[in-house]
Amino acid sequence: MIGRLNHVAIAVPDLDAAMRVYRDQLGADVSAPVDLPEHGVTTVFVTLPNTKIELLGCFGPESPIGSFLERNPAGGIHHLCYEVADLVAEVDKLRGEGARILGDGRPKIGAHGKPVVFLHPKDFLGTLVELEEA
Ligand code: CO
Repeated sequence: MIGRLNHVAIAVPDLDAAMRVYRDQLGADVSAPVDLPEHGVTTVFVTLPNTKIELLGCFGPESPIGSFLERNPAGGIHHLCYEVADLVAEVDKLRGEGARILGDGRPKIGAHGKPVVFLHPKDFLGTLVELEEA
């Protein structure tokens, strides 16, 4: 069972420009960039009163968002992240029901230092879903 919406992620071609949009135009609280080499992305978090926005830029040539940005050169919504209480139990349940977990299916440490997995968009209404242990 999923809980709170932790964040909405937006892949962007230019992270500095995206930070300026959220900080200077929209007046939001914008974090410093953090490189996540294991995930091939650099992340910036925008903290809103009820959730967060994750701005995703490419890190390295093998970035998993590279092909997304080729299809969406101006950027676009990339994934939704929901919190779960017990990630391993949730993954076991979903896999038992036939849902596909991306990568090797094992949780990785995500942008908040907590375990995450990504679920195949074809199994979830065309939306890439990240589950994060709360
Ligand atoms: Co995310």
